[in-house]
Amino acid sequence: MPLSLVIFGASGDLTSRKLIPAMFQLFRKGRLPAGTQIIGSARTPFSDDAWRQALAKTTQEFNGKHFDQAAWDKFAPAIHYHAGDINTASDFEGLHKRLTELEGSAGATRVYYLATAPHTYEEIVEQLGASGLADEVHGPRRIVIEKPFGTDSASARHLNEVVHSVFHEQQVYRIDHYLGKETVQNILVLRFANTIFEPVWNRNYVDHVQITVAEEVAVGRRGSFYDETGILRDMFQNHLLQLLTITAMEAPVRYEAEAVRDEKVKVLSAIRPMAPETVAGATLRGQYLGYRNEPGVKPDSQTATFGAVRLAVDNWRWHGVPFYLRSGKAMSCRTTQIVVQFRQPPHMVFDSQPDHACDADQLVIQIQPAEGIQLHMQTKVPDAGMKLRQTDLEFSYSREFKGVMPEAYERLLLDVFQGDASLFARADEVELAWGIIDPLVSAWQKQAQPPLEIYEPGLWGPTSAAEWMDKQGRQWFDSCPVLS
Ligand code: BG6
Repeated sequence: MPLSLVIFGASGDLTSRKLIPAMFQLFRKGRLPAGTQIIGSARTPFSDDAWRQALAKTTQEFNGKHFDQAAWDKFAPAIHYHAGDINTASDFEGLHKRLTELEGSAGATRVYYLATAPHTYEEIVEQLGASGLADEVHGPRRIVIEKPFGTDSASARHLNEVVHSVFHEQQVYRIDHYLGKETVQNILVLRFANTIFEPVWNRNYVDHVQITVAEEVAVGRRGSFYDETGILRDMFQNHLLQLLTITAMEAPVRYEAEAVRDEKVKVLSAIRPMAPETVAGATLRGQYLGYRNEPGVKPDSQTATFGAVRLAVDNWRWHGVPFYLRSGKAMSCRTTQIVVQFRQPPHMVFDSQPDHACDADQLVIQIQPAEGIQLHMQTKVPDAGMKLRQTDLEFSYSREFKGVMPEAYERLLLDVFQGDASLFARADEVELAWGIIDPLVSAWQKQAQPPLEIYEPGLWGPTSAAEWMDKQGRQWFDSCPVLS
């Protein structure tokens, strides 16, 4: 069946930087159904041609030397623009008419993509419902909703209610672009298509897990949004908790949306809720020096740009294994990695080793910038008696598979078109995730605990972060990308 992708927020950054380049790549790879149309909508008036030209320019910037003009010329006629205001019912009726004309009697699978500011989501959903645009008479109707999905449990629940008053849950795709990254999906393959990792993937062998999303960039032009949001809502509720669920979940019975999401929901339900008095000991927060001078940021802002959180997963597999989640802006480098830190060998037989100790094994799953996996393990140094040294086994995507790695949005858009919601958050999943984050946000704001520490840009966050780990007998994996 042909496809219509309707983008609300067509004049925004997400559309030009991510959605259109992803659609163009899918077109070049021949992955879009015949008769695919893209209809952008926003308030600014544009003709179809003017919008196509603007997008040609931004896509060219994005693709750089890989931009293929001839392919673009074939792709561009599928792009249309329809000016409209989300508060005006007649504009939705106009959009309905335009879509019906474009699709003709064949109908189409229609995907509505909300690339607008989050406060507009409810209005758009209600207008889609009222104008009949959500009716599935002439083909399936789906809706894609960008993060943030609410700002706490209550608002997420309310938004879910509004969405469900118009769409069934099976029509709803709550996007988290981290799930579109190849290595994140590869964690599922690593764990559930190999037998050798499962026996050690538990409390008997794993000491702890570290999940780090470090960004070198500061908040830049997003100061006013960020100052209201902060690191917990911007990164932890979604990306970091998603990475945790994929790392900690049980094997689903099959790779299918409900089965995968049922397992992720079980992990979120097993995370020990944090009582207000425990937040100070189990979290750290920081703000980079200079943040308060960023445009749009309050001069006395208490917003955290760095956070570290220790979570306990209370189930048979993970009881007693801390999960350390950490993220920050203006850090040493851009790296996203999951480190599974194994236990020390129970007894060291090599006397040559000082203190009879050695670094325990680590599995480093690097999600970006380069993607791949490294297993750090002990080896014998040649010609030096029984001296040991840590070395590694490595799998790198770019070395193993030639070609440009696909952007997360390519994979995710294709899944929406094919009706596969495995990599999208379900209603209960987002609500549970907010339930984990809400008490932290509240303790940080209301009790000002733990204290907000100012850190120098270009480091691994506040200096106390290392002491905090040290007291727990552990160390942060403060390494810039191990794979390049
Ligand atoms: C977004 C956050 O969801 O993810 C940004 O709002 C952050 O603050 C971005 O910079 C990071 O995404 P990526 O894919 O660049 O790691």
